[in-house]
Amino acid sequence: MDETDDSQVFTQQYWDERYATHEHVWSGRPNQRLLEQAAELPPGQALDVGCGEGADAIWLAERGWRTTGADVSVVALEKARRHAGEAGVADRTAWVHVDLVAGDALPGGNDLVSAMYVHVPDTDFGRVYAAIAAAVRPGGTLLVAGHHPAEQETDLRNPQLSHLLFPPERVTAVLGDGWRVEVAEAVTREAELHGEPRLATDTVVVARRDLT
Ligand SMILES: C[S@@+](CC[C@H](N)C(=O)[O-])C[C@H]1O[C@@H](n2cnc3c(N)ncnc32)[C@H](O)[C@@H]1O
Repeated sequence: MDETDDSQVFTQQYWDERYATHEHVWSGRPNQRLLEQAAELPPGQALDVGCGEGADAIWLAERGWRTTGADVSVVALEKARRHAGEAGVADRTAWVHVDLVAGDALPGGNDLVSAMYVHVPDTDFGRVYAAIAAAVRPGGTLLVAGHHPAEQETDLRNPQLSHLLFPPERVTAVLGDGWRVEVAEAVTREAELHGEPRLATDTVVVARRDLT
């Protein structure tokens, strides 16, 4: 599998292999951007798009949300389901297999839709993020975090995939009318590369969907 080939890095095969090779691809901790932006929201129905091993969805469920995690990798979804059981939130979590690039439908009507570091091919970006936004119910919240193009200047990202990084404006341009954008920023955070400290830059967008 060529990790620099962006026709492959969005496929179930690529992600299943990655999740099957490593027991823990991610830290197991919820994303800092989710903690910052969702801690004060009243619990309801949440959708975590690109949920991976489930840490964010489980964190939400532990706070009283009913949460659905969606991902292209069935290996990741199986791990997420197991982790939810271990965390005692199996009854408040559901897991769905969705290929965003293929155009699979997402469950709609959510009070919160979170998409953390979901990078898709340039030509699919508008369509995929429109579908993610459409899964928010009127009055609900969209939360997006991604790796910002400023990271091209660092050694944090594969330079051959740097065209996949996106600024907040890429997301807000998709939303158009019917949304109130509350946050659209590039925000730094402390990160690590091979145990060495680095400064990562995230795109962060928080938007509320109008009630009417
Ligand atoms: C960078 S990881 C982020 C995982 C998690 N949101 C987090 O922040 O730890 C991207 C996730 O998107 C999923 N993904 C990649 N391509 C996808 C696609 N075409 N449809 C749905 N999910 C996809 C991957 O399986 C992976 O779990």
